Amino acid sequence: MCLIYVFGVLVITSGVFSQDPTTVPPEVREVFVAVGSSVKIPCTDGEEKGVEWRLNSSVLVSNPVLFIQNTSLKDQGIYTCHQPNGSLILTVSLHLGYPPSPPDVHCWSPTYPKRAICSWTLTPDPILPTHYIATYRSFSEPLSSARQCQKWEEQDRQCALEELEIFAREHTLINITAINALGSTTRIWPFIFEQIVKPDPPVNVSLMVMPGKKLSVQWGPPPTWPDPVNFLLKYTVKYHWGKHETARTLGPYESNKMVLSGLVSGRTYYIQISAKDFLDDGRNSDWSAPISATIPSN
Ligand SMILES: *[C@@H]1O[C@H](CO)[C@@H](O)[C@H](O)[C@H]1NC(C)=O
Ligand SMILES: *[C@@H]1O[C@H](CO)[C@@H](O)[C@H](O)[C@H]1NC(C)=O
Ligand SMILES: *[C@@H]1O[C@H](CO)[C@@H](O)[C@H](O)[C@H]1NC(C)=O
Ligand SMILES: *[C@@H]1O[C@H](CO)[C@@H](O)[C@H](O)[C@H]1NC(C)=O
Ligand SMILES: *[C@@H]1O[C@H](CO)[C@@H](O)[C@H](O)[C@H]1NC(C)=O
Repeated sequence: MCLIYVFGVLVITSGVFSQDPTTVPPEVREVFVAVGSSVKIPCTDGEEKGVEWRLNSSVLVSNPVLFIQNTSLKDQGIYTCHQPNGSLILTVSLHLGYPPSPPDVHCWSPTYPKRAICSWTLTPDPILPTHYIATYRSFSEPLSSARQCQKWEEQDRQCALEELEIFAREHTLINITAINALGSTTRIWPFIFEQIVKPDPPVNVSLMVMPGKKLSVQWGPPPTWPDPVNFLLKYTVKYHWGKHETARTLGPYESNKMVLSGLVSGRTYYIQISAKDFLDDGRNSDWSAPISATIPSN
């Protein structure tokens, strides 16, 4: 690439109320450049003699024009341009990075039907300060009716969609637009609310050894699931002993307990539970953390 990006932003740092022009500090220019491109920054308008550029205070070139080809991250820094007598003319803060690439979007709903969460990543990381506009609307709604997707859990690249229609007949579109000093890009990601349901894992799994080589297993619904009464969950129980290859799954269960029987004395069993929307919408939750119990030897 040999594009030249020079986005000068004038930043007045102080002296705004000063009446004496000689006390106005030299300007600081923020310059943003794409890694691999070239940059050309003139210090003065004219062809002044003896003007020089310094980087981190050491002399770089005796030339009024700073020219860097094939920039890389190590070219970042504070560049200053000086008169022959040393007085400062201009300060440039050079920032290297990438224009945003289209975000990879992933949405899921651990809190169906209350809200869905979307998160996204950019590859490569743009490095430069990048901000995001996230909006959503139904497929047939006009652009103007798009709602703001609110930042979620203070994460820069995550937002929450509220009041989505359930059993909608058309897709919801989320629009993630990423913007930085080098450009902007948009990704539209269509989804059906029910297809992105994914509960959090069940909690409070407890085991009780029962006579007859049985284990009573109990658990609680994921606390994030807003309404387990009207939006039922079903559960799968996984257990194993020894190596993981012995894992077996049982279920689904509608209740919050079951009994494992036919177990072997002296064996330690590891139990995990997963939840899924009762109507089979979306995906299973991750497995709860394994907890174990040993069947006593007779
Ligand atoms: C630019 O620099 C990179 C490494 O910094 C190098 O791999 C690449 O070949 C260079 N490209 C040109 C056109 O000089
Ligand atoms: C200039 O200084 C900055 C900040 O201290 C540093 O990150 C950068 O590596 C320095 N650049 C050079 C070429 O010394
Ligand atoms: C340095 O030179 C410039 C013009 O060449 C002049 O405006 C400035 O006052 C000089 N500064 C000092 C400290 O001599
Ligand atoms: C996506 O969002 C951006 C920023 O709000 C907007 O400019 C653009 O028109 C939207 N595009 C679509 C197809 O919704
Ligand atoms: C899980 O256990 C904690 C502490 O015993 C209790 O406060 C909480 O209500 C339980 N949650 C569920 C969903 O059973």
